[in-house]
Amino acid sequence: MQDDDKRLAAEAAVAEVRDGMLVGLGTGSTVRFAIEALGRRAAAGLGIMAVATSIDSAAKAAAVGIAVRNFADVARVDLTIDGADEIDHRLAAIKGAGGAMLREKIVAAASTRMVVIADASKRVAAIGAAKLPVEVLPFARSFVTARLTALGAAVTDRDGTTDNGNIVLDARFASLPDARALAATLDATPGVLGHGLFLTEVDAAYIADDGVVTRLERGGASG
Ligand code: A5P
Repeated sequence: MQDDDKRLAAEAAVAEVRDGMLVGLGTGSTVRFAIEALGRRAAAGLGIMAVATSIDSAAKAAAVGIAVRNFADVARVDLTIDGADEIDHRLAAIKGAGGAMLREKIVAAASTRMVVIADASKRVAAIGAAKLPVEVLPFARSFVTARLTALGAAVTDRDGTTDNGNIVLDARFASLPDARALAATLDATPGVLGHGLFLTEVDAAYIADDGVVTRLERGGASG
């Protein structure tokens, strides 16, 4: 059921893709459905190329026949499709449960349009209950942990490293009254390379709830 909704949201977003576009591919279980849908459209003759926000998504895209460019050679992306861990009606999101939030934010920033795809479990009244992933230079682990703790977070170290060779600290806040201030503080903390607060990047969201897809647009329109 949840997978059906992920697929429906993904297919609605993939319907936005036009011939000749360079498409940004996010990361995660919902994006997997978008990659599959895009692969089907490419096989049917749609002329697109893609950049990926993770090694995993690049491999999945290549496996379905999508031509994947190295993002290091790319400055602009037409449309990026990505998942989220939480998203609210203002299109503020928390991302990064899969650890790809740094590349995801860079690709989102390069994108003319960025759309989130999600099942209804991701839709919240206000973001903040999900753990906030923070990508950290390993050298700065203890320093950043102390800074996050001082900001009121319960911090856990995630096992392993990101595609960029860094570590992830998961910060859980009892509440998130001022996400903009927190994002600014994190952006200004040496050793923090990225975090999962996406407050301005998302232009639209397709959210599927029990088979019904709703599109939310930044600025208010929906359909
Ligand atoms: C990857 O790091 C994340 O930002 C994902 O986009 C997010 O966690 C959503 O993933 P799922 O679609 O698997 O829930």
